[in-house]
Amino acid sequence: MNPLRAEAAPWEGARPEQLADRYYQATTWIYRRAWGSSFHFAPLRRGEPRPTAIRRYEDGIAEALGIRASSACLDLGCGIGGPATSIAASTGARIVALNSSLGQLGIMRRAGRATNVRSVGGDFGRLPFAARTFDVAYAFEALCHAVDLAAVFEEVHRVLRPGGALGFSEWCLTDAFDPRDESHAALRRQIETSYGVARLRAWPEWQAALIAAGFQVTTTIDRASGGGEAHEPWYRALLPRDTTLDSLGRRPTVRALEERALSLAERARLVPRGTATTVRVLRMGTAALVEAGRRGIFTPMRVVVATTASG
Ligand SMILES: C[S@@+](CC[C@H](N)C(=O)[O-])C[C@H]1O[C@@H](n2cnc3c(N)ncnc32)[C@H](O)[C@@H]1O
Repeated sequence: MNPLRAEAAPWEGARPEQLADRYYQATTWIYRRAWGSSFHFAPLRRGEPRPTAIRRYEDGIAEALGIRASSACLDLGCGIGGPATSIAASTGARIVALNSSLGQLGIMRRAGRATNVRSVGGDFGRLPFAARTFDVAYAFEALCHAVDLAAVFEEVHRVLRPGGALGFSEWCLTDAFDPRDESHAALRRQIETSYGVARLRAWPEWQAALIAAGFQVTTTIDRASGGGEAHEPWYRALLPRDTTLDSLGRRPTVRALEERALSLAERARLVPRGTATTVRVLRMGTAALVEAGRRGIFTPMRVVVATTASG
């Protein structure tokens, strides 16, 4: 893997509390192009297009959480609304989609999402809702950005009703990660740097924070390691060449042309300063994700269902 470059991406050096927002300010246009409206991984069946896998996964998580038409749900870190829109459509539930990135919320509002989805600006560490407002809270690859995870879980616990459920699919270091192994530590640092994550955590830390907040963990599984379903590696979605048409844009020649075009556009002030660096730093992150996935030291899909005590 390449070492960290001297050239810094626009979000590098931001204070931990501002890191995620600065990161998505610089990268949301790239996410939209690469991912559509849902910015998260999903278990892949052989040859399956990623959007199909993502939709199936979102519906599966909604089902695991028992979301139905009468449910009041909170989407924590909703991105531009892909998961909220599909879960609202498949279940009929009312969803409040929360995001600290006002830019992303603007995109979501302009797209005119479903009537049973309401978007709200805010930080999941300080939820702008009264106690016991929701039946279910869920997150896809958003809580990994939390600076104080214990505070986030306390807040989520507060706004859930008794017998409520929290579910998420999140980025996590696996048991195979060895902090004393310098190559593991370097991959971790590269992922954190490239994806605006203040600190990647291993599952025991997530679990301790959930329990300290009063949750009972009822299900936990690493979907990257199979979970009983025939699948391809999650990082297939990042490889320069795979069996799907999605990979055309990831071929090295296409990427080299793109990088050249971006540098020229930046010099001509057609795109903001730092755009070419942003793309390069993300590509270094992609390489680190693939390598960490191959070594099994990282998963983007630690799935958890946790509940609050009933009544
Ligand atoms: C990888 S994106 C996932 C978005 C969405 N869940 C999806 O799957 O499409 C992470 C999201 O978390 C949001 N986020 C990060 N930190 C946050 C915070 N403290 N409070 C609320 N949202 C946050 C980001 O703005 C971004 O929308």
